Amino acid sequence: MTEKIAVMGAGTMGSGIAQIAVEAGFAVTVVDTEQAFVDRGIGGIKKFLEKKVAKGTYTQEQFKAMDGRLSGTTDIKKAVEGAVMVVEAVFENIDLKKEIFQKLDGLCPKEVILASNTSTLSISVIAGVTKNPSRVIGTHYFSPVPLMRLVEVIRGKETSDATAAKTVELCKKFGKTPIVVKDIPGFIVNRFLCLIYNEAANMIHNGSASAQDIDMAMKLGCNWPMGITEIIDLAGVDVCAFAMEAMYQMTGEERYKPSPLFAKMLAEKKLGRKTGEGFYKYNNK
Ligand SMILES: NC(=O)c1ccc[n+]([C@@H]2O[C@H](COP(=O)([O-])OP(=O)(O)OC[C@H]3O[C@@H](n4cnc5c(N)ncnc54)[C@H](O)[C@@H]3O)[C@@H](O)[C@H]2O)c1
Repeated sequence: MTEKIAVMGAGTMGSGIAQIAVEAGFAVTVVDTEQAFVDRGIGGIKKFLEKKVAKGTYTQEQFKAMDGRLSGTTDIKKAVEGAVMVVEAVFENIDLKKEIFQKLDGLCPKEVILASNTSTLSISVIAGVTKNPSRVIGTHYFSPVPLMRLVEVIRGKETSDATAAKTVELCKKFGKTPIVVKDIPGFIVNRFLCLIYNEAANMIHNGSASAQDIDMAMKLGCNWPMGITEIIDLAGVDVCAFAMEAMYQMTGEERYKPSPLFAKMLAEKKLGRKTGEGFYKYNNK
């Protein structure tokens, strides 16, 4: 029988996670707060899959089958019905995530895994609002999800061995390489990345270097495939700024204090590729 995955949030990450699950043969339902957001997410996934058909990766029949397994709704109850795992990928806000996990805990039978795609927040804290914290876990995917190979699987204080094992198995079925990490702020990847993002933003803010030079330096000097500010523009300046703020709040360490440049860019709506301007300008038309 085709297993079902439900994904909360049809944004950058939610639609990426939905795509890899549907490509792996699962039935997937994405849920968002407005039908327009659901349609945008599903439309984006279909566009990617159509490109793969054009490239010869999939046949029309395979595309049709994936299309048939993919659905969207604004009704959370309908979305989670029959799912073996729900992956939450809404905004990086602890109160919102707590509210959603409490709701999911009430809606889903206790064997259903509830996973959060949080970049920085504590899985134990999120699990703390549920009656069944043993089935709560973190699955931190990276952007763009279809291309990035890693998933950090985060065990909360009470996550069971069975939940961890099944999650690792599902991530592998989605074509990813999972590593099980401790529930510490930023896990592994974002502990480093937040520092690097912040240093780049501070250097630009105080005039020590331009975004172009920082990116060129890392690409040519360290063989990074993308520059630091190019990565921030791709992930979203707002997403990185929220992650940084969360790291600062959780650790209390000055090194994570968000550069003033982030607040300035948020006020100017320079959120990166999605708004047409971040550290660089983009032609989104
Ligand atoms: N963007 C990245 O590079 C990246 C990487 C790893 C992890 N993350 C994490 O993934 C999560 C999502 O990030 P994103 O970049 O996809 O954000 P996004 O802003 O692109 O998408 C979030 C989506 O969640 C929806 N949403 C908000 N409240 C909701 C609710 N109550 N029910 C259903 N949907 C709701 C929003 O309408 C939006 O479509 C965050 O926790 C973020 O920290 C992001």
